This record gives sequence, structure tokens and C-alpha cells, in this order.
Amino acid sequence: MVGIFSNGDLPEDFGISGISCYFPKTFVKQNELEKANGIAAGKYTIGLGQTEMAFCSDKEDSVSLALNATQMLLDEYQIDPSSVGFLAVGSETLVDKSKSIMSALMPLFGEDVEMSGADRKHACYGGTQALFDALAWLNWTYAEDHKLAIVVCTDIAVYDEGPARCTGGAGAVALLLSPGAPLVFDRGLQSTIACHSYDFFKPVGSYNCEYPIVAGADSISCYLGFLSNCYKKYKQKSKVKRGQSSLSLADFDAACFHSPFTKLVRKAVAVMVAEDARDGRRVMGEENREEIERLRGSDEPTNLSLISSDALKASEHSWIHLSNPNLEMNRRLGNMYTPSLYVQLVGYLSRLEEERMEREEGKERRILMYSYGSGSIASVFSFTLNEGRTERLKRMVQVSRSIMGRLEERIERTPEEYAETMAQREKFYVQRVPSTPSSLCSPSLHPLFPGSFHLSSIDENNRRHYARTDKKHAIM
Ligand code: ACO
Repeated sequence: MVGIFSNGDLPEDFGISGISCYFPKTFVKQNELEKANGIAAGKYTIGLGQTEMAFCSDKEDSVSLALNATQMLLDEYQIDPSSVGFLAVGSETLVDKSKSIMSALMPLFGEDVEMSGADRKHACYGGTQALFDALAWLNWTYAEDHKLAIVVCTDIAVYDEGPARCTGGAGAVALLLSPGAPLVFDRGLQSTIACHSYDFFKPVGSYNCEYPIVAGADSISCYLGFLSNCYKKYKQKSKVKRGQSSLSLADFDAACFHSPFTKLVRKAVAVMVAEDARDGRRVMGEENREEIERLRGSDEPTNLSLISSDALKASEHSWIHLSNPNLEMNRRLGNMYTPSLYVQLVGYLSRLEEERMEREEGKERRILMYSYGSGSIASVFSFTLNEGRTERLKRMVQVSRSIMGRLEERIERTPEEYAETMAQREKFYVQRVPSTPSSLCSPSLHPLFPGSFHLSSIDENNRRHYARTDKKHAIM
């Protein structure tokens, strides 16, 4: 491990020092889905801002996705498994109501090892709670034990036929948490709120199905309402704890959001900018001065169900520079639930250029994060880029670029093949055990990346078994 403290002092710079991401090898294009579903051209691509959607067959589940992301993290950053003392998983794609996904990852860390962690579930937010818990654990134990933490976010977003189906996706992200991190967590600034709502849920009992029950419009207004509330609280904390009374979105180098579809993120940026303008705070983009001034003069609270054209215009510059460039994976993989926020860090890191960093040396770069989970809970928090951790940062940038490159190695499938795969998953979900994923019989139709873990069978006692594809061959 590069850059890890070994003395007894408790360092200040805990945060993210490694990131990896796994996504399925197959995808379907959103414009093809529009045609196949008989939907007006542009609804999924422009109206929701999505270009492609990742999907996987019945031989992939939340455990196999998590195994892949974790193994990649261990390999890419040459992490000695015995140096890890905390492993937590955020997921809403349960394969068991009792046994954790974290426990299924333990074979990667050896036998009889000390490990804290377990799983966190709260819709798309579970990974964020796991991250906060990992940071708290490091603060609590690092001075004594010098062990690292890993957080894994893993989900498969699938919806029943209807308007929500095109907002599916799948993937997993693994994060290494340590002191000496290039992305240092801004302590004491996170603002979190929660309430009881039924905007999106997956009940147990007679509802024996992989798909959620979703009230789409409610989930969107919850998402935007919680953002507005958390952002106000974050700004108050910045004032009280750091004396930053004029903080606005313009003070950040990037803003990352939970992204069910990227058009919602566009609206989220508009909500924040409208609030900054109304608070008299700095807004990026001289060219839209007129709209910004009109927002400054308005004392109306932001109407979350109807984002005004002034708010959209005034936030154009912020959207183009702080958010849009980091959303490529979200646009091309779809909603991954818990990983959706964190893949934007991959997008951000992949675009960090040494030359720009040298030119702007000394500039503070902060990244604002918004995490939302239906049900509902949300947080605004932030990281500061620590450019002093050069070697580690360089590695994170390299790994992020190679993850982005892997998007091009995927294989396109037709909407009909996608629909057949969903039907196959539905059947497998309720199939009597012992069972074997039927996609194992058609490997060329359901390919995996080389060296991928996958579900190989469920035995007569309902225990899941996993295997790994050949490292050299893409098709198992
Ligand atoms: N060209 C361009 N844009 C179009 C077109 C077209 N031909 N047709 C429609 N649109 C636009 C609409 O104007 C609308 O844009 P707007 O919201 O800016 O006005 C957008 O496309 C969506 O159209 P709607 O009619 O509102 O979409 P619909 O009701 O069919 O469903 C929804 C959208 C609610 C997002 C649905 O996909 C859903 O339920 N998704 C799952 C829930 C979800 O993702 N919630 C978000 C937070 S919770 C979570 O992460 C799970």
C-alpha cells in the first residue's frame, strides 16, 4: 500500500484511496428500446437523458457483481487482503433475507481473519451509510490496528414492463478507505435527513418478485425535496463549522448525484443553483446573468414539480462544468442503485489531467456528493482532492480510465434479446431448487468479461454457488 500512515497518530486525511467498478458485458440501446416499445422518439434518450442500459442474465446476481468489483479492487491496488479489517456492502438487491452479501465476499480475504462490517440496506442509499460507517470505524480503530476498510455497492435494477423499465441498469463499485487518501472526506459537514415514505419498495411475502413497486412521480419529488433540504443544511454547517458564509456550488470542482436517469440530475443542478441565487450566493456563468438576476429577485421557493426555465438557463454553466462530464457511465449503464453516485467519481477521476492540475496548482478542489435512497433518506457531503498523494492519485486516475475504456468492450443486444433475458430472470427467481441458471447453456448470447465470477447453481438447500470464468477468454 502506498501512502499509509504507520505511526500511532490519528491522521486527518481519511477518505477514498482506491476505486474499482464492475458492470455487465451486455447492454441495449435506449433509442432501440423506444422503437421496440412504440414510444415517441426521444423520450428515453432526451426526456430521461439515457443512451444505453446495462443488463445481466440469470447467472449474475448482486453477490457475483460484488465479488467482481472487490477482486478488481484487490488486484488493481495490490491490496494485501490481511490489511483489511472492515468490509461493508450496500445493496437493495437481496439474495437472502438473513445471510449478508459481505459474508459471501469473505473467501476473497482468507479463512479465520478478523473482519468487521456486514450489510447496509436502504434502497439506493445503503452504500453511503456503509461509507460513513467505514470512516467512523477507521476513526475508531486506525490508531491501534492500522487496518483498512472496503465498501462495496452492488445492485441490479430491473423493472416490470411499463414506463420505469427503461430506467434499469446493473453494476458494482468497490471503494478502499484509508488515511492518506487522495479523496479526503470533509468531516462534520454531511447533512442527512430521513422520513417514512412508500415511493419505491420491495415487500416480502406474497409479492414474490424481483421488481420494485414504484410511485415514479413521488420518488422524483422526494429526491428533489430532500436535495434542497440537505443542501441548505450543508451550507449552514459550512458557515458554523468552517466560517464559509458564502459557499455555493461555484466553489466545487465537481458535483455528483444519485442518478436514476441523467435528466433528473440536470434538474437537481437547477434546484441547487436557484437556491444559491436566491441566497445571494455566487453562480457560475456570466452569459446567463439575466436569468440569474431574475432568480435573485424572486422570493418564491423553488417549485420542485416544475423547474423554471430561468433555473435551467441559470444553471447551464454549472451543469456543463460540474456535473454532465462525470455522468458518462450513468448515461450508458443506467441506474445501478447504490453504485450510481460513486461511478461519477470514476468519471471525474478519469478526466483529471496532470497538465491542468499543474497549471492550477494550489487551487482547492472539492467534490459535492448527493446520495438519495427511497423510503426515504438522503445526504449531502463532500470530499477534498488531496493532490499531495500523487502516486496514489495517479493510480486512481489510471484505474478510472481503464474502467471507462471497458465500456467499449461491451456487446450490444436487441430489445427482444433484452426482454427474453428479463423473462429468463423472472423464471429463475421463482424456480424450484436445486436450479442452474439457464443462461449457462447459451454462453455466446450471455457473455461475461474474462475472469468474472458468476452464479453457477443453487443447491437443494438453497445455497448459492459461484464459479469464475477463464481469465483469458471473454465467453465462458
Ligand atoms: N422527446 C423528448 N422528451 C420527451 C418525449 C419525447 N418524445 N416524450 C416525453 N418526454 C419527456 C417528458 O417531457 C418528461 O420530461 P420532464 O420531466 O422534463 O417534463 C420526460 O420525458 C419523462 O416523461 P414522463 O411522461 O414524465 O415519463 P413517465 O411518466 O413515462 O415515467 C419515470 C418517468 C417516472 C421516471 C419512470 O421512468 C419511473 O417510474 N422510473 C423509476 C423511478 C425512479 O427512477 N425514480 C427516481 C428516484 S428513486 C430511484 O432511484 C429508483
